Order: sequence, then C-alpha cells, then structure tokens
Amino acid sequence: MAKPKRRYVCQACGGVSTRWQGQCGDCGEWNSLVEDAPQTVFSAKHDLSSGGRPIAFEPLDAPGEKLERRTSGLAEFDRALGGGLVPGSAILMGGDPGIGKSTLLLQAAAHVAKSGADAVYVSGEEAAGQVRMRAERLGLSDAPIRLAAATSVRDILTTLGSMEAPALLVIDSIQTMHSDQIEGAPGTVSQVRGCAFELIRYAKENGTTLVLVGHVTKDGTIAGPRVLEHMVDVVMSFEGERSHQYRILRSIKNRFGPVDEIGVFAMEGAGLQEVANPSTLFLSGREEPVPGSAVFPAMEGTRPVLVEIQALIVRLQSGATPRRAVVGWDNGRLAMLLAVLESRCGLNFSSAEVYLNIAGGYRLADPAADLAVAAALVSALTDKPLPGDGVWFGEISLAGEVRPVAHSSIRQREAAKLGFGKAFGPAGPSAVEKGVRFTGLDLLPKLVDRILASA
Ligand code: TYD
Ligand code: MG
Repeated sequence: MAKPKRRYVCQACGGVSTRWQGQCGDCGEWNSLVEDAPQTVFSAKHDLSSGGRPIAFEPLDAPGEKLERRTSGLAEFDRALGGGLVPGSAILMGGDPGIGKSTLLLQAAAHVAKSGADAVYVSGEEAAGQVRMRAERLGLSDAPIRLAAATSVRDILTTLGSMEAPALLVIDSIQTMHSDQIEGAPGTVSQVRGCAFELIRYAKENGTTLVLVGHVTKDGTIAGPRVLEHMVDVVMSFEGERSHQYRILRSIKNRFGPVDEIGVFAMEGAGLQEVANPSTLFLSGREEPVPGSAVFPAMEGTRPVLVEIQALIVRLQSGATPRRAVVGWDNGRLAMLLAVLESRCGLNFSSAEVYLNIAGGYRLADPAADLAVAAALVSALTDKPLPGDGVWFGEISLAGEVRPVAHSSIRQREAAKLGFGKAFGPAGPSAVEKGVRFTGLDLLPKLVDRILASA
C-alpha cells in the first residue's frame, strides 16, 4: 500500500510539488525547487481507529507545574521575550548577517553561565577560536560557557545525552546543522526541519531553553520552510541598519507572552548595550526647530518611543514628474496623506518633490504617525518650523478628520518625561497628562491654520 513518490520542495517557502518546475507554484520564487527524500503515502482507507495505546487526559490546572523564567542577563532581551527565558522552550532568532545575533546570544549565554547554570554554545559558522576572540572583546572570557564548533546534530545530541542537560543551548545557526539521517546538504528544507525537530525534542524533554539562530533571505523571511516558525515557541527578529548603531529585537510570535514587545540595544565597541530609554537615542542630535521636522510619540507594543519625522519639499521649475521618496514609512500612506492635504486643505504639492525620512533609520508602522507626518509636510511646505517642544499623534481619515488612537496618555507621558511641553492629538475626551499642554485637533485644516498662523 505504501508507495514512495518523488517530490520537490521549494527552498523558499517549503511548498511541495510532484514534478520539477522552474517556478514555485506557491510563492512564485524561481529555481527554488529541489528534489527531496520521498515521502511514504498511505492509502486513504488506512484505519487508525484501533491498535493504538490509550492516551491520558489531564486537567488544565496541574498543580506544582510552574514555568520559572530565567533571566538572560539583558533586561531588553527578557522584555522582548515577555519576561525571560522559559525552560523547555524553543526560540528562533532571525536577522540579517552582521546585525549582532551571535553577539547577543554569547552575552546571554555568558550571563546564564555566570549565574551558576549550564550554558552550551554550539557554533556551526565560526571556529571556537573566533568565538573566543569575540568573548575576549566583550570581556566575557571568564564566563564558564561550554563552547563547541560542531555541525552534526547527532554529535551534539550524543554529547548532551552524556551530561546533565544545560539550562541554555544556543545553536548558531540552524542552517549549518546537518543530520546523517536525512538526505540533502545542510540548509535544505528537509535538513533544517529535521535538525530543528530533533533539537526541539531534546529541549522539551530536558527543560532546556533552546535558541536557534536562523538566516534571513533577501525579503526578510527566515530562510528555510515556514514550518520552522510553526515548530518553535517564540520567533524573534533582530533588526536595524548596519550603518546605524541601534538594534531592535522584536518578538513576532510568542507562545508565552505578548508579541510586538521590543528590546532596544546599541552596538558598541564592547558589544550590545541595553538602551532603557530609546526615545533619547532616536531624538539625539536635534537642535533648533527647523521647518519640516515633527516629533512623533510612537508605540511599540506597550512601550512608547519618540521619533523624529523629517520632510523636505523642493519646488520644481520645469514640468518634470516630481519625485516622492520615503525612508522608514509606507509609500502608499504618504501618497494618501498628500492627496488628503491637497483635496481637504487646498495645499498644492503637485509640482513639488516630496522627501520623507524617519530619523535614526527607524521604521514606523504605527498608524498614529499620520498627524505628525502631516505636520512635518505642512511645515516644510510653508517653511514654518513647528514648536520645538511639541509632539504630534493621530490617525487621519480620507475625509480629513483626525481620528483617535490608542495609548494617548502613555504617549503624552513619554513626551513629558523627555521635556516636551505640548502635545497635539485627536480632539475628544482624551486624558490630560500632567506637564503637557494638550491641544485637540478634529480636522486637518485646523492643523494647517495653526501652522500658518504661527510666527
Ligand atoms: P555578529 O554578532 O557576528 O552578527 P550576526 O551573528 O548577526 O551575523 O555581529 C557582528 C557585527 O557586530 C560586526 O560587524 C562587528 C560588530 N561588533 C561590534 O561593533 N562590537 C562588538 O563588540 C562585537 C562583538 C561586534
Ligand atoms: Mg553570527
């Protein structure tokens, strides 16, 4: 009944096809199908309703089974995880090459080892000497980490089986691991999936926290099958511009805590330093108020971050098509906002080039940025600077109304903490925070009038 079938697996998305094709039918990637080990297919009539062993059912509130989280020693890492490392859990950490994944995990492993627990760091990418050099640079050479350069999952699990299970196991990276039980080169879908499966099983059985480092493809997804993201408990992504100092650790999926919490770090000479107050980082270097600059209190999960939005408008003399360039915000959203400003406020951007930049290489996803972007655009167009001690937040509708957004009081409190005395936001019964003078704006034309009327 069982008959093996040829199958081809897409190395980008994990989609399966029964014949080879130049383009994956699922994700559209070219030249990504690779023949995989055949899978045994049973006939549909196969009866599974007898012959198995009975399973035991349990109540939801099993006593005495509490997850004691362990701190990674980096409060920002713990925060992004939702409170620390959970024993027996598997974390997948993705990020561009050179962003600092190995550095972060070496620092965390060193802390765990110094706190008296066992931490194992297996590098499949660097030789032990290279990791040691990095540790020296980080001033962590005295941490009793168990370090190994290995790529065979069988060797790793055999070794771990003969010692007491560590509290933390770092595999850097899952794409370099291979299993002799599985066909294919390291990094192929079946190898990545098979190796991850065995390592996760070890972690669950032994109460070890497993961290798998994952490579990231051009479009930002973790290389290998999406199934890897389903297999682990937590998916994190480590982001930032390599040319900028700051790094953001985001949790994209978390079975033990909230998602969209972030941890903020700065990459410095002695490794990653925690940034407890990110607003100061993104606002650094601001001097006299200039036209086109607006400060926006963004929310990242439950955490406010003040960022500076910069707009530049250049009037064109000729009839050439004007450029619209955006860094750190959504292109489509800018086009929408310009259209609303033109049709509801009578402003004219049609013969002007518009440039929008979020300072510090930050990427904004919070829809409440609309009002701050509009303020920056109007300020740039009219060449009038906004008040230097003001922040702006609110969503803008196509009708030109300023809509309420979540966390109005947290945003204002953060602004007050950093010395901003004025907040402009959606009109309505929003909480007035101490130390901030709040001005409610219900319609976009009122914003324009305000800016035009300012000295
Ligand atoms: P790394 O952790 O190797 O990145 P990944 O594992 O994500 O590929 O980080 C490498 C970069 O970090 C490298 O470009 C140098 C920089 N770096 C510092 O600036 N300071 C340091 O103390 C260390 C260890 C690295
Ligand atoms: Mg690395």
